[in-house]
Amino acid sequence: MKQKITVLTGAGISAESGIKTFRDSGGLWEEHRIEDVASPEGWARNKELVLNFYNQRRKQLLESKPNRAHFRLADLEEKFDVTIVTQNVYDLHERGGSTNIVHLHGELLKMRSSLDGSLVYDCTTDIHVGDKCPKGSQLRPNIVWFGEAVPEIENAIEIVRQSDILIVIGTSLVVYPAAGLVNYTRYEIPKWLIDPNDMPLPRIPNLKFVNEKATVGVDYLINILLYNV
Ligand code: OAD
Repeated sequence: MKQKITVLTGAGISAESGIKTFRDSGGLWEEHRIEDVASPEGWARNKELVLNFYNQRRKQLLESKPNRAHFRLADLEEKFDVTIVTQNVYDLHERGGSTNIVHLHGELLKMRSSLDGSLVYDCTTDIHVGDKCPKGSQLRPNIVWFGEAVPEIENAIEIVRQSDILIVIGTSLVVYPAAGLVNYTRYEIPKWLIDPNDMPLPRIPNLKFVNEKATVGVDYLINILLYNV
C-alpha cells in the first residue's frame, strides 16, 4: 500500500503564479477589509461590493497558471497516496494535475444559492446583484466566509489523522479551524513546513522548516521523497 501524504496549502503556493497572498506586505487584506468582503455581515450590508471583490479575484485566477510547485505536487502521486487539503479557492492544484483535493474554504469557480448551500453551480463569469439560482434566490460565490462553518473540516481532520507524511506550504497558519489541522497528525510522522518567511512554527514533533519559496521547497522535498536524495 502506498504511504499517505497530506499537503496543506495556503495562499503562498500561488504567489509564484502572480496571485497575492492575504497577509504579506501588499497582500489582499491591506486593500480590503475582511469584514466588508468576506463575512456574512459584509454580504448583508453591501452585496455589490462583495460580488465585485470576488469577480476581480475570479478574473485574475482565469488569467493565472499553476506554477512548478503545483505541478510537482502532482508528481508525488507516482509513488504516494496524496491528498491536497487547501485553504485556497483557486483551481491551480487541479490544473497542476493533482487528483485528490479538498477545498476547505470553497471554490472561486463555483457559485451557490445564498439561501441553500447545497445548490452549487459552475461559475466562470461575473456574478451580479439580481442573478438568481433556479429556485429564485440571489447567487453568491461558493466561498466559506469568516464566521461561517467549514463543511469539509471533519473530512480534513480524518485525512490528516491517517497521514504518514505532512507537508505544509505557504500558509500563515492563523485562520482556524484550518490552522489547527497540523495538531491532528500522528506523533511520529515526518512533517515539513515550506515558507520563505520566518514565522512562528507550530509546536508539533518532527517538524522541519524549509525556509524557501514554494517552487524551491517542493523541488527539495520531491528529491527526498521520490528519489531519496
Ligand atoms: P496568508 O496570506 O495568511 O499567508 C501566506 C503565507 O504564504 C505566509 O506565511 C507567507 O510567508 C507565505 N508565502 C509568501 N510567498 C510565498 C511563496 N512564494 N512560497 C511559499 N510561501 C509563501 O494566507 P493563508 O494562510 O492561505 O480565507 O490565509 C488563510 C486564509 O485567510 C485564506 O484561505 C483566506 C484568508 O482570509 C478566507 O478568505 C476565508
